[in-house]
Amino acid sequence: MSDSSVFPNSTGVAPAIRPFSLSLSVDARSALKHQQPCCLWLTGLSGAGKSTLANALEIKLNELGRHTFVLDGDNLRTGLCSDLGMGIEARKENVRRIGEVARLMVDAGLIVIVSAISPFSAGRAIARALFAPGQFFEVYVSTPFDVCARRDPKGLYQAALQGAIKDFTGLDSPYEAPERADCEINTDEIELSEAVQFVLSRVFKK
Ligand code: ADX
Repeated sequence: MSDSSVFPNSTGVAPAIRPFSLSLSVDARSALKHQQPCCLWLTGLSGAGKSTLANALEIKLNELGRHTFVLDGDNLRTGLCSDLGMGIEARKENVRRIGEVARLMVDAGLIVIVSAISPFSAGRAIARALFAPGQFFEVYVSTPFDVCARRDPKGLYQAALQGAIKDFTGLDSPYEAPERADCEINTDEIELSEAVQFVLSRVFKK
């Protein structure tokens, strides 16, 4: 087998691959679930409250009879992304994988909630571009650095401030805040239940 049949070419697609066109459409799959699938993408610093909000959103959607799944950065890093570190290239790849999986899950008819720092605007734009118009909602969990550092639920801020963890987001690794998020939640200023209602009212306007 030659290298060219194994490794991706410049378009990122292995040369011998021809996508198979599936008969069942995303509309057909979502019709069975009586919902419009979409991706709610939560971005923000570590400790900002993304996972807590994602979890609460999923509980509420489940109560409303919606079919959902949460793709949580920490959880994915124990499996699909366990080979990736926290350097810039690794984070880009992490976010690329999460975007692709989210897209597949939306194609399956699910409402997908992503919870990942996803620190780079370009990476989030690449994820957005995978979806049809109106399918992707960027939720900026804008809880400030100082508040996240005070909460420090996993002790990571303390470790990073002592130099025991490198490439820590907001310290020695950048976080690019969204400029035009579909909605913004500062979990220091709003109760969880209110935040859930606010996000859902922005996403499901009708
Ligand atoms: S991302 O930047 O690639 O999107 P992701 O959301 O998957 O990050 O994972 C972030 C989680 O990894 C944090 O919630 C935190 O628990 C943990 N973590 C470990 N090291 C770091 C670090 N250097 N910077 C930020 N988070 C870290």
